[in-house]
Amino acid sequence: MLKKVLIMVIMGAIGPTGCKSNLPEEKGAKMGITKESFGKTQDGQTADLFTLTNANGLSAKITNYGGIVTSLMVPDRNGKMDDIALGYENIDKYIESSPYFGALIGRYGNRIANGRFTLDGAEYTLAQNDGQNHLHGGNKGFDKVLWEAEEIKTADSVGLKLTYLSKDMEEGYPGNLSCTVIYSLTNDNELKIEYQAETDKATVINLTHHSYFNLAGHSSGNILGHELTLTADNFTPVDDTLIPTGEIKAVKDTPMDFTSPTAIGARIAQVKGGYDHNYVLNNSDGSMALAARVYEPKTGRVMEISTTEPGIQFYSGNFLDGTNKGKGAVYNTHSGFCLETQHFPDSPNKPDFPSVVLKPGQKYSHLIVHKFSTK
Ligand code: BGC
Repeated sequence: MLKKVLIMVIMGAIGPTGCKSNLPEEKGAKMGITKESFGKTQDGQTADLFTLTNANGLSAKITNYGGIVTSLMVPDRNGKMDDIALGYENIDKYIESSPYFGALIGRYGNRIANGRFTLDGAEYTLAQNDGQNHLHGGNKGFDKVLWEAEEIKTADSVGLKLTYLSKDMEEGYPGNLSCTVIYSLTNDNELKIEYQAETDKATVINLTHHSYFNLAGHSSGNILGHELTLTADNFTPVDDTLIPTGEIKAVKDTPMDFTSPTAIGARIAQVKGGYDHNYVLNNSDGSMALAARVYEPKTGRVMEISTTEPGIQFYSGNFLDGTNKGKGAVYNTHSGFCLETQHFPDSPNKPDFPSVVLKPGQKYSHLIVHKFSTK
């Protein structure tokens, strides 16, 4: 009897496949990348869906359509995995209508006033796809193109290298812009995104990533209880169309202040329309620094975002209205939040903001690290 119990205990620990998940020496066994079809784009090209799994069992599903992260499985304080990224289960829904769930954004993250800017004396006209303004690269931004994908494996990470050549005047932007984005999921439980780009003509560029996170799980309701810290003493106030006024304003003594951990919902009612603002990060010298920390008290999940960029857009999912339904969930107002590391909105028309101009011979680079842990 004792022998039978012992065998059962051992079997239970080992599991049906014979791999016990939490033995350190066995950890590497889980690491890997799988690829499946994600369906067809509007012009009939096949998109793939890659599942990256690290040694601790965290996984990210990423499609080369728009470089979209469709799912992100992360453990809570008890080790329970949950999908913390809002998104859809198939490509058709992304094509039909998506508020940029999980996507790569380019050529310009956030807004350019009136869809116009001047560079080296020439005026460029862009799509006005957000009222009178230009948003997230236009009608067919980087979130809607098919990227070339290559799997990357190292001793301590699994990744995907995505490349795309945006032709001269695509969506109205000058220059052939050759872009590389490397996603990697490391065994330190980080999702890293590394951008590089080069142009053959002076242009403007502001690439970012647009995941909507809900650290309690993508279908768990609103994110108002998440505690947010931003390493930003200032933000850029906006007009009624969400274009920065040009002012850099202190957050101190305003509902915009997240310099110490504060629930997103604590003062959101005092912010017209909810949070949708660019924060000016205290670190602006291009080195890697912590930009944001988010803690979800029920599950204990923590996400820290570090970046080389000077700004971060904090968007509290204000425009989600229940019409987007994905992976069995209905995404209502504030079901997810975005923290998009970036240069400031409308920089091409704001000479006092850090420059977004990229010239031939220069290299654009931008690194974002999302680090997951629990407390
Ligand atoms: C913007 C929001 C916009 C959202 C989805 C965010 O980056 O700041 O204003 O509604 O993206 O498009």
